[in-house]
Amino acid sequence: MMARSSLETILIICACIGLSPASAPSGAWDAFNYSPESRVVRPTSVFKIQGSIFNADNLLSESDEATLINTGSFVSLDFGKEVGGLITINLSPSSNSSAFSLSFSESSVYVSTLASDDSTYPAPNASYDGIEPVLAPLASGLWTQPAERLRGGFRYITIVSDSDDALTISNISCEISFMPHVDNMRDYSGFFYAKDPVCTDSDFLTKLWYAGAYTVQTNIVPLHTGRQIPSVPSPGWANNATLGVAGPIIVDGAKRDRAVWPGDMGIAVPAAFVSTNDLIPVRNALSTMFAAINPVTGALPESGPPLSQLDSDTYHGWTLIGTHNYYLYTGDTEWLQTVWANYTKAVQFLAGKSVPSGLINITGLRDWARLGGGGINAEGNAIYYKVLTNSADLAAYLNDTELASAYSANASIVKSAFNHEFWVESLGMYRDNTSTTLCPQDANSFAVLFNLTQNASQANSVSAGLEKNWNELGAVAPELPDTISPFIGGFELQAHFVSGNDDRAMDLLRREWGYMLYTNLSVQSTLLEGYTANGSLGYRSYRGYNYDPAYTSHAHGWSSGPTSALTFYVLGLQIMTPQGQDWTLEPHTSGLSAAQGGFETPLGWFGASWELSGRKNTQFVVETPKGTSGTVTLPAGLGKSVRVNGNPLKSKSTKNGKTTFVVSGGKHTITTN
Ligand SMILES: *[C@@H]1O[C@H](CO)[C@@H](O)[C@H](O)[C@H]1NC(C)=O
Ligand SMILES: *[C@@H]1O[C@H](CO)[C@@H](O)[C@H](O)[C@H]1NC(C)=O
Ligand SMILES: *[C@@H]1O[C@H](CO)[C@@H](O)[C@H](O)[C@H]1NC(C)=O
Ligand SMILES: *[C@@H]1O[C@H](CO)[C@@H](O)[C@H](O)[C@H]1NC(C)=O
Ligand SMILES: *[C@@H]1O[C@H](CO)[C@@H](O)[C@H](O)[C@H]1NC(C)=O
Ligand SMILES: *[C@@H]1O[C@H](CO)[C@@H](O)[C@H](O)[C@H]1NC(C)=O
Ligand SMILES: *[C@@H]1O[C@H](CO)[C@@H](O)[C@H](O)[C@H]1NC(C)=O
Ligand SMILES: *[C@@H]1O[C@H](CO)[C@@H](O)[C@H](O)[C@H]1NC(C)=O
Ligand SMILES: *[C@@H]1O[C@H](CO)[C@@H](O)[C@H](O)[C@H]1NC(C)=O
Ligand SMILES: *[C@@H]1O[C@H](CO)[C@@H](O)[C@H](O)[C@H]1NC(C)=O
Ligand SMILES: *[C@@H]1O[C@H](CO)[C@@H](O)[C@H](O)[C@H]1NC(C)=O
Ligand SMILES: *[C@@H]1O[C@H](CO)[C@@H](O)[C@H](O)[C@H]1NC(C)=O
Repeated sequence: MMARSSLETILIICACIGLSPASAPSGAWDAFNYSPESRVVRPTSVFKIQGSIFNADNLLSESDEATLINTGSFVSLDFGKEVGGLITINLSPSSNSSAFSLSFSESSVYVSTLASDDSTYPAPNASYDGIEPVLAPLASGLWTQPAERLRGGFRYITIVSDSDDALTISNISCEISFMPHVDNMRDYSGFFYAKDPVCTDSDFLTKLWYAGAYTVQTNIVPLHTGRQIPSVPSPGWANNATLGVAGPIIVDGAKRDRAVWPGDMGIAVPAAFVSTNDLIPVRNALSTMFAAINPVTGALPESGPPLSQLDSDTYHGWTLIGTHNYYLYTGDTEWLQTVWANYTKAVQFLAGKSVPSGLINITGLRDWARLGGGGINAEGNAIYYKVLTNSADLAAYLNDTELASAYSANASIVKSAFNHEFWVESLGMYRDNTSTTLCPQDANSFAVLFNLTQNASQANSVSAGLEKNWNELGAVAPELPDTISPFIGGFELQAHFVSGNDDRAMDLLRREWGYMLYTNLSVQSTLLEGYTANGSLGYRSYRGYNYDPAYTSHAHGWSSGPTSALTFYVLGLQIMTPQGQDWTLEPHTSGLSAAQGGFETPLGWFGASWELSGRKNTQFVVETPKGTSGTVTLPAGLGKSVRVNGNPLKSKSTKNGKTTFVVSGGKHTITTN
């Protein structure tokens, strides 16, 4: 028996205040959970050896030894998936001059004795970080990396002998550093399961859901493990910077930047909600941003410390959108009230940029790396519109009806001005600004998703227009040429579902995330930050990343869009008001024959499953907490007779062939024939 640890105490406290995550039902889906069973993980295979190495395979066990002889001999070990944390090795040096170095890589492409993949800074030689030398004389026994030498994300390590005197090693392990507050990292509160009839791997959709969930887990880190800024000199890295006002905290990537980025959270947080429901790191990240507000102007920073980038009107907006997401999922009114004064001040900061049309002039130009973007710009104004509709919602929850109406009134003005300024009828899409015909992926995806479109045919037209940017590996962003951005792609994916173009959504999902999950350039377990149009790793090479493909992150929460999209659209279960007091079930069956899954909120379990046996005989099961209220919309083209728990449906409406009706919380079985 172990004494009660401080972790257990924290979990007990959480349980008392209703934040304790409950476990999702177990089933076939558990086999696809990438999260490790133990915080201590070991290599699963030998990737490469060179020189005089004896018994390298022994390094896969806890107790057996291997020996490196001669300078330059090395062994590269594969952990089988993305991991992150401090390495411990048992050393038996043969002499006082025995010595070795360690290097790390996410991608197998950058496994090297000369350098780790880059995390500190992007350099054209792809060798900024270098190796970690462990100098002679070595002490016999367990050696652990110094805390600041943490690598937050890697799949491969290379151990190279720096001496002609033999070095015997054993018991190599990595103690996982992410999700520090969670005992069993596999104990998710949500799940998703569906067979894919199109992909050669029929478990693709389930794997992808779990890959997105695991990606976000690798981004939830202890408070004092941020990347040092200013950059430590080359060669080197240091991950001992403080990331915010409290930890654990959600950052953008496992390897890098290891800093809070509110735009990234726009995708990563919904993925966390449906999988782990681990939202305290989200609150800590948002609190960090509000604490750093400019007291004079009301501007929020673009990123958290120690980066603390300023001057981004779009990321300013994302902190506000993130606040609404966090409140929707948790109903944490007490926290909302503590940040409300700064929240409203930050909305006012954007409103202060208004021109007479009601649109805002984007002057804080930093963003997700897209080109252009300033002035009276569509993307920035789409985000502003979402901020306004969200703010009206939040003000209403806080019973400030006057402020809620003022926000709503401005939202209406912005929506109409947005359509007037940016809609190009001949292109059937929104342009970036009035001096261009470039129709960006970001603003067009947001316009559909945030409901800036005024009718279904307009949304359809945008969805069709977005498809024209695709190649076989995904959606190439016109506003960042030669680049596939799974961050903006995650919004585009949702836009196709929202506009009812389910087959198009599934096509994009299979191209873009199928490539990311299976390519041997990446880690086949977490999702990479981005790539070029031909699938190479040089994401953003010409846009800030100095042509350093080793700098790309392979575990970036902003690429986890499919995780929430599969739950919210394919399974079809979404919450509409805080904690899911009101919810909707609207399955987008998308050519699949069945799906099941669910998530939890502080009110309890929200689960659904559906099965189509032919188009006519279908069954939908939904289970939600008592006292909630749901609106069910069934797909078009089903049998006309609808029964709920065996009884013919009394009150329903039908639009475009889809039947809609209201049910209360509890468990309901809905059949059609
Ligand atoms: C292996 O190393 C771990 C620490 O990482 C230690 O707890 C364990 O006792 C070691 N096992 C053996 C067989 O030495
Ligand atoms: C290392 O040096 C110390 C002090 O000179 C000596 O006692 C020890 O035996 C040496 N160790 C090995 C492995 O040669
Ligand atoms: C990836 O697979 C391709 C095709 O099988 C192969 O040619 C290439 O060497 C592999 N690359 C890596 C980095 O494993
Ligand atoms: C790689 O480039 C960086 C930055 O330009 C430089 O500091 C470093 O010394 C270079 N590394 C090697 C191994 O040349
Ligand atoms: C982080 O580690 C570096 C390198 O060891 C050290 O110089 C620095 O003082 C540490 N910073 C903090 C905040 O601990
Ligand atoms: C709100 O902003 C002020 C600066 O104007 C700051 O001192 C305070 O900590 C912020 N409050 C919260 C809860 O973030
Ligand atoms: C509404 O927009 C106007 C400018 O168009 C601005 O002056 C006003 O403060 C905004 N109101 C709110 C509540 O944001
Ligand atoms: C937007 O702001 C920029 C920078 O202050 C300014 O140069 C430009 O004239 C403004 N545009 C409009 C339409 O007000
Ligand atoms: C308008 O958008 C285009 C395409 O994104 C961009 O190149 C240009 O700089 C923008 N113009 C202004 C005035 O911001
Ligand atoms: C808003 O008003 C309702 C009805 O009076 C009340 O139940 C609720 O607690 C109030 N909300 C807040 C945040 O004060
Ligand atoms: C979207 O906007 C239209 C008006 O343009 C409105 O009728 C519709 O209710 C809105 N949809 C949602 C989900 O708010
Ligand atoms: C939908 O909106 C577009 C753009 O405002 C407009 O051109 C079109 O006529 C509208 N279509 C319908 C069916 O209302």
